Amino acid sequence: MEQPGEKVRGLGKAAAQPVSHNSSKPLEEVLQSLEEKIRDKTAIIGVVGLGYIGLPLALAFSEVGFRTLGFDVQQKRVDLVNQGKSYIPDVPSDRLSAVLANGDLEATVDQDRLGEVDAICICVPTPLTKTKEPDLSYVIHESEEISKHLQLGQLVVVESTTYPGTTREVVLPILERSGLKTGSDFYLAFSPERIDPGSKKYNIRNTPKIIGGIDPQSTKLAGLLYSEVAEVVVPVSCPEVAEMTKVFENVFRNVNIALVNELAQLCERMGISVWEVIDAAATKPFGYMPFYPGPGVGGHCIPLDPYYLASKAREYDFHTRFIELAAEVNEQMPYYVASRIMEALNTQGKSLNGAKILVLGVAYKKDVADVRVSPSLKLIQLLQERGANVMYNDPYIPKIQLYQDTLTSVDLTQECLSSADCAVIATDHSCYDLKQIIAQSKLVFDTRGATRGLKGDNLIRLGE
Ligand SMILES: NC(=O)c1ccc[n+]([C@@H]2O[C@H](COP(=O)([O-])OP(=O)(O)OC[C@H]3O[C@@H](n4cnc5c(N)ncnc54)[C@H](O)[C@@H]3O)[C@@H](O)[C@H]2O)c1
Repeated sequence: MEQPGEKVRGLGKAAAQPVSHNSSKPLEEVLQSLEEKIRDKTAIIGVVGLGYIGLPLALAFSEVGFRTLGFDVQQKRVDLVNQGKSYIPDVPSDRLSAVLANGDLEATVDQDRLGEVDAICICVPTPLTKTKEPDLSYVIHESEEISKHLQLGQLVVVESTTYPGTTREVVLPILERSGLKTGSDFYLAFSPERIDPGSKKYNIRNTPKIIGGIDPQSTKLAGLLYSEVAEVVVPVSCPEVAEMTKVFENVFRNVNIALVNELAQLCERMGISVWEVIDAAATKPFGYMPFYPGPGVGGHCIPLDPYYLASKAREYDFHTRFIELAAEVNEQMPYYVASRIMEALNTQGKSLNGAKILVLGVAYKKDVADVRVSPSLKLIQLLQERGANVMYNDPYIPKIQLYQDTLTSVDLTQECLSSADCAVIATDHSCYDLKQIIAQSKLVFDTRGATRGLKGDNLIRLGE
């Protein structure tokens, strides 16, 4: 009788006939076989980096019937995946357990097993350095690992967000150190991940997937593979177009958020509600889409990706002025919000120095458990620097680390709300009972427009 886990271990065994460097098969046959393996789902898919992007992707491939091998450098994450315990909110543990039980998913830290798979999707981080330059060290390190194990006929797809040129100028030369050549021996493409974490509406399946291969055959094969998990695949002419498309999408958001943040400040001076203006403008059925002001931008993408493009642009003696300006406006927002809170306290005859402030929501956006680059953290730091005694509540984030301090989320009780001099809605999680917050707080400062439609003498909104 089959023992639990046996099928999973079988993933490696079944994959033990990879096309190898020394394969005596003619190349034509190898290429043909990859296409057939994708079509009949016997191809084995490797997903490298099991984070917010890689784990949902690995789940998607395994749910449609591909045997999938997930790689991560964190043993803890690998163990959790193999136990069917998800650490990413968009990946329910029961769905993970189901594909594990079928033997369709396995996670490993063993990069030697890269040789077992037919296609490799790279989903490793692309952060910034302290001086806000692109940090491609994860992509470079992983390309070096893949190069050591690269097989004739393998398909490699870069998903990590990066500047145009990375796939051709950085990844390709490292992979070719293997002795194999793209165009004849292996396939290479860039296909940006575009999922919106926490979204109930959009996911891998219903978000069109852009594919830019290094050659037409790479585009075709990557397109074939992703059409198994995405309803619409959008082939483009080369990796650079795909890379630029992804960065452009995030620059577009960053610039428009900056524009509306600036408008919010003007509206305050003019005594107009920016929220009412946005709602009214959004009734126009063409030529406008709403963006909303807030305490700044956060997450792994919007505040980072524009710098990837700005940095690359300088190589061409080009300064991306919109990107710089948007960054300036958005990075100023936590400072602006801190000064507005100070003014709001003044109206009650209180000073920020010594005040007890309750920050509601530290995730970078509503209904997610991701605190990376969250403007709430900057806001807390600024309030503390100005002498405030800050506590926070976030139902998704039990603890945060701020320099030397660890803060623990407080329970949102009546006592907690009424004891604070000001409750600041920094992230508008859907579960917050706004009426209760307004009723039980001395002062509420809403940075997200979450309380639109509600009234209270103690309620102040950004942008009004
Ligand atoms: N999070 C998002 O909303 C989002 C959206 C679109 C695109 N992206 C892009 O996707 C990429 C991944 O982002 P993420 O949010 O999933 O990051 P993440 O930090 O959540 O996950 C990355 C994972 O890669 C692992 N890792 C690092 N180096 C590795 C290596 N050499 N081999 C194997 N595993 C390795 C890490 O341990 C981690 O588990 C980034 O380029 C990001 O910009 C992210």
